[in-house]
Amino acid sequence: MAAEEGAEIVGQRIGSGNPVIGKEKAEAGRCRECHGADGNSSDAKIPNHAGQYAAYLVKQLSDFQSGARRHEIMTIMAEDLSAADMADIGAYFASREIMQGDGAGANALGRNLFDNGDQGRDIPACASCHGTRGKGGIAGNVIYPVIGGQRKIYLRSQLVGWKLGDRKNSPGGVMNKIAESLSDDEIEALADYISGL
Ligand code: HEC
Ligand code: HEC
Repeated sequence: MAAEEGAEIVGQRIGSGNPVIGKEKAEAGRCRECHGADGNSSDAKIPNHAGQYAAYLVKQLSDFQSGARRHEIMTIMAEDLSAADMADIGAYFASREIMQGDGAGANALGRNLFDNGDQGRDIPACASCHGTRGKGGIAGNVIYPVIGGQRKIYLRSQLVGWKLGDRKNSPGGVMNKIAESLSDDEIEALADYISGL
């Protein structure tokens, strides 16, 4: 939880935007209707933003604007946002108490792939980039999003998207390479495990 995480990590998540102005902009822009007042979404297909890295949210909004990431609703929602709007809205959601799963995390197949990957098939451990509990991080210019506690149906849809090449906006195509090697059962197991963290 945000309060237990230490000011340094929370500060890194929020970035340079203004969370107070961001709250107003998220209200005016209707973001909170779908993504939740505190960034915990109203529908399992819609991602949580609570405690997500603002820099990651900004990157995704820019990618929706440029067409590097495509989605019918979000392309329209992102259309008129300025760079300052994105930073402020990102800061607001990042400042909320970080998303939490139901603690289940009991899926053995998902857990093993998450923690260890599969060396023989060149699948790296998800934890090596997204953190042991999936709470993300920043290394240099690369932002590893929070995925632990994210909505299960959303997680599955993104992994399928990376696998089929419908989503291709990760740096160097890293997530496409990883997801291409995963079977549908492994994707299901990973989504189940990660959503519980
Ligand atoms: C009508 C519902 C709806 C509204 C309103 C909406 N969103 Fe979304 N948003 C979605 C859905 C659905 C997705 C998942 C897109 C996908 O599956 O690729 C999404 C995805 C996102 C993502 C990517 C998150 C990630 O983890 O990669 C960001 C960032 C985002 N929305 C920000 C916003 C902002 C900012 C606003 C307000 C300006 C907004 N959204 C308004 C439904 C909505
Ligand atoms: C080498 C580093 C690396 C590894 C290993 C890695 N990821 Fe990622 N992942 C990323 C990066 C970077 C992004 C952000 C992509 C972007 O900017 O759009 C990402 C994005 C994602 C997303 C999208 C999150 C969202 O909110 O839309 C999911 C889901 C995901 N990864 C799951 C996994 C799973 C499951 C594994 C293990 C099988 C894994 N990742 C392994 C680097 C990695």
